[in-house]
Amino acid sequence: MKVKADRNDCRCLHVTDSQLQLANKRNLKTQRQVMAQTSAGNPDVPDMGRRQFMNLLTFGTVTGVALGALYPVVNYFIPPSSGAAGGGVTAKDALGNDIVVSEYLVSHPAGDRSLAQGLKGDPTYIVVEKDSSFAEYGINAVCTHLGCVVPWNASENKFICPCHGSQYNSEGKVVRGPAPLSLALAHATVADDKLAFTPWTETDFRTGEAPWWS
Ligand code: FES
Repeated sequence: MKVKADRNDCRCLHVTDSQLQLANKRNLKTQRQVMAQTSAGNPDVPDMGRRQFMNLLTFGTVTGVALGALYPVVNYFIPPSSGAAGGGVTAKDALGNDIVVSEYLVSHPAGDRSLAQGLKGDPTYIVVEKDSSFAEYGINAVCTHLGCVVPWNASENKFICPCHGSQYNSEGKVVRGPAPLSLALAHATVADDKLAFTPWTETDFRTGEAPWWS
């Protein structure tokens, strides 16, 4: 009787282990299903779309802050505008001061051609007409041969390049090579007692051709 009872106990124990293993497997499967459902439906666990949105939001915020911090630095290195409208610049003297028309004409007689700082910083002649008014054009002083600055020769009434001898008439039209082209033009206009240069994009009145510099 005692042996039978032991066998029965052993059989009962064996069955209990199998049931436990099966129960464990079921529990594991159930836990995985619950985790999947929790991830999909629980607002505390972001899904893929929300994570991407939050990443974008974070990236945008960080970028905005960085650009805001950099703007004053970048702005510091950008030179201030020259102030003339239409892509032009206010003409400046050798010291970098704006040319004041009323003062300029007192010290520059009729026929004068003196250099000022023009478009893109190029040396540009201000032309004073015979009636002591400003010509409506300025003459770029950069020689069209190899780029020397061409001085005005008042006694010859010409611009004569010291580098290779090119010559231009009083309006900057080339009259002797090796320079292949006339000196470039810019519009010269007066506003608020200041002289401004703006780009010349129309026909070159000296040649009747399209401006080569535009
Ligand atoms: S650079 Fe003026 S003639 Fe050569």
